[in-house]
Amino acid sequence: MSIQKATTTEQTAIGIAHSKLILIGEHAVVHGQPAIAIPFPLVGVESVVEYVPGKVKLDSSFYHGPLDSVPENLSGIANCIKETLTYLDLPMNDLLIQIKSSIPHGKGLGSSASVAISIVRSLFAYTNRTCTTEELLELANVAETYAHGSPSGIDTLTITSESSVWYEKDHPADFIQLSEDFHFVVADSGRIGDTRTSVESVATLLLSAPRRIQRKLDRIGELTHQAKHALEKAGKHFLGQMLNEAQKELEALGVSDAGLNRLIYFARQEGALGAKLTGGGNGGCIIALAQNEVHSRQLAEKLRKVGAHAVWPFVLKKDKHGSGE
Ligand code: MEV
Repeated sequence: MSIQKATTTEQTAIGIAHSKLILIGEHAVVHGQPAIAIPFPLVGVESVVEYVPGKVKLDSSFYHGPLDSVPENLSGIANCIKETLTYLDLPMNDLLIQIKSSIPHGKGLGSSASVAISIVRSLFAYTNRTCTTEELLELANVAETYAHGSPSGIDTLTITSESSVWYEKDHPADFIQLSEDFHFVVADSGRIGDTRTSVESVATLLLSAPRRIQRKLDRIGELTHQAKHALEKAGKHFLGQMLNEAQKELEALGVSDAGLNRLIYFARQEGALGAKLTGGGNGGCIIALAQNEVHSRQLAEKLRKVGAHAVWPFVLKKDKHGSGE
């Protein structure tokens, strides 16, 4: 199935991007371990570019105004836009870029990377050019470097992918063939997390206790290898155990918090086969592996009742990326 990611009419060009979830391996992936990420199409971003005379302007829920006066938290996006315009030989004026996102910000769902990718796609579409994955990743990573400090690149790559991604920094990405459908629930703890701060806190820990912290990162790497085996062969019960084990290590790295832990333990009590934080942590979302489709709906409802701000039951299909239930 080919999915249209960018379209152009006479007046406007549109670029879209879905979101992503890290199944296992977050944080360790920044330090050279593998991670597994999955596309999450239940939320996404649309960027619309149109000709409007004057300075380049940005219109988003965070900010409306000229690109050269964006607030600090949008400077990564502003740089990504400037680099893309330069790359496309477009002048720095006469454009309005509108960003419409259903991805909650700061919840570990790759909102910053999705915004960047949808913008790059829309600017290429505006000039009637198609972009290669390499161009897309390079330009979108300009924004990610600001958002994450030293991003592994996994978010941008997964957002450009339709399949589950096996990712190791500086290696060509691989895609995972699933042996069965896996039913998950994603639940939002409500607190906004800052991936950059979380990534920096792990880097600081690693400097202060290199051997102890390296062992934890290596352990997450081993669990990620086991999780791949679970997705490809061993099945959901084994995958659940790997997710629970990874959560122990993430807690020890100091990137889980009380709100995430509460939802994680609740999900396990309610029969989840495994549950952990997803993404940068210290706020944001959890991912829980349900027993089956019915259980994923029930679990989502229960998580909502105990205070999750949003819940998404979600199936990762055997032969393609996940879709909402
Ligand atoms: C964020 O989704 C995942 C992290 O591992 C950061 C990164 O890989 O860039 C926490």
